[in-house]
Amino acid sequence: METRVTEFRANLEALLASGKQLPTLPVLVIQVQRALANEMSGLRDIGAIIERDPALTARLLRVANSVMFSRGDPVNSIGVAVGRLGMGHVRSLCLAVGVVRAFGDSGQRLDHKRYWEHSAAVGMVAERLADLSKRYARVDGAEAYTAGLLHDVGLLVTDQFFPEDFAGVQEEMDFEGTARWRTELTRLGMDHGNIGGRVLDRWQLPASVRAAVASHHQPDTAPPEGGDLAHLVWGAEALCTASGLELPQEGNAEVAPADVFDALDVPEPKREAVIAEVGAIGERARQFTH
Ligand SMILES: [Fe+2]
Ligand SMILES: [Fe+2]
Repeated sequence: METRVTEFRANLEALLASGKQLPTLPVLVIQVQRALANEMSGLRDIGAIIERDPALTARLLRVANSVMFSRGDPVNSIGVAVGRLGMGHVRSLCLAVGVVRAFGDSGQRLDHKRYWEHSAAVGMVAERLADLSKRYARVDGAEAYTAGLLHDVGLLVTDQFFPEDFAGVQEEMDFEGTARWRTELTRLGMDHGNIGGRVLDRWQLPASVRAAVASHHQPDTAPPEGGDLAHLVWGAEALCTASGLELPQEGNAEVAPADVFDALDVPEPKREAVIAEVGAIGERARQFTH
């Protein structure tokens, strides 16, 4: 067991160090991230960058016209779409498109459609929880959405680059009936959150998002910069798993919704509404992959 842990760690380090193997984010996505980070760039600059990419443009227009953001009039231009979605959502969506492209469909065991449905749902629920949680009220909703959207990126990496480890964990967890992250910890010495965090390091995403993704199954171990965010993603993962929006490869729910609400300090009267909302969020998450 010890050798396998050391071996996995060495293989992951080699992958991270090799410039070639690990997928990179498309240049355009990086340009959008930079423009969004620069307060001097206006909506028009960002729109102009996005319009260079027809597929990204089409996706943003579709999302802007979806149930979540629709306010009546159809959105036909990227400028209006960016205005309606807000900078935070444009940033997350560009990132998601970048990650989808970076990984393509080349995985072996993960159903990518299901994977993105789950990820989009966790992103949306995390954003909702950022709004409702009294304990973690300082977290920015758009940041919670980004962290939720990218929380399981470590699974994409393991599936694509370490298929034997992915399969080995799967067999063992199916046999033992445990949650995936626990089996990963014993077999690989780290869970898919930790693996994803390392990849997001390479992509130079904000420290809070990296830390939250790394610790989403063990939020109490998160470093201070990502602790609040990690708890929201953990809670969103648990609520989605309890409501049929789980990723089958992650295993069964370990935390009941009531315990999530207590941990996050979500006011009693809001709880039932959130559970009902998670169902609607599932519908919207399906639109994400279309
Ligand atoms: Fe997940
Ligand atoms: Fe996870």
